[in-house]
Amino acid sequence: MAIRTNALPTIGREVLDLDVAAIDEATARDLMGLWREAGVLLFRGVGTSPETLLKLSRCFGELEPHPIESIRMQEYPELICLTNKGGLRGPVYAFDGVPTYGRIPWHTDLAFSEMPNAGALLNMVEKASVGGQTAWLDTERAYEALDSGLKQRIEGLEVRFEFCTDLSKMKYHNPGGVRVGASATGFPDYPPLARPLVWKHPATGRSILNLGPLNLQKIVGMEEAESDALIRTLIDAVIQPQFIYEHAWQQGDIILWDNYRMMHSAMGHPVDVIRVVHRTTLRGVAKVGRTLPSEMAADMAQPFAAASM
Ligand SMILES: [Fe+2]
Repeated sequence: MAIRTNALPTIGREVLDLDVAAIDEATARDLMGLWREAGVLLFRGVGTSPETLLKLSRCFGELEPHPIESIRMQEYPELICLTNKGGLRGPVYAFDGVPTYGRIPWHTDLAFSEMPNAGALLNMVEKASVGGQTAWLDTERAYEALDSGLKQRIEGLEVRFEFCTDLSKMKYHNPGGVRVGASATGFPDYPPLARPLVWKHPATGRSILNLGPLNLQKIVGMEEAESDALIRTLIDAVIQPQFIYEHAWQQGDIILWDNYRMMHSAMGHPVDVIRVVHRTTLRGVAKVGRTLPSEMAADMAQPFAAASM
């Protein structure tokens, strides 16, 4: 099957008129190649059937059940349903006075895990009538655009990442917002993790960044003020519109992203607006960090060479 695509306005590509039921092995290989090059693929109007999402997802690798069992769909354990239908399952923050559900600032998934997922696919089943956009940021493009002095300065450094469900605890690029609902509870206690700030993508070998502000705490082994200044410089250089694609969803859209290379961000929507999304998760193929035993141990630890990842 010949695949036609269009570049999205900034990063990523749209795959046009794909007949998922007709995908054969050769088409799946082509789609995989496209994903490696683009980092984000948009498929519009694919529908909302779990079988279609599962068939398309399997073109890009092995699927894994999500670690949070309560959000898995009973009939399809490799699918999770993200929704506020039937009750809220996460915290609510007010932005400009509007109680908002599902706002998740820039991050990569499972950034607090040594083996994060390689990618994921979202399928819009019921779009929010207000808000609900999702955005992706290409750290490969952003890294390429850094000046050579900054590239040299960050080579070999590690960053400390921590699990975070409380936006008020974000140290960098905090979106603001006032908590108006209960805390998110029921999560395991994840220990802090050291990740290489710059590392090589396990499939493409190209340089990418671990810089998701939701989980980012500091540069390992660096004095606080210097670490803070360097992280702020990097975030200012990386979180730029030319590296970002923001998607306004339509029902039946699917978006696939590379979770090593892309940060993503969910804008959230008013609590009284319903949104239903199905998602699959592509199993991780590379260890991305190392668990840190404690704050003191993290400060004393020597950064390891990112090239050894
Ligand atoms: Fe996410």
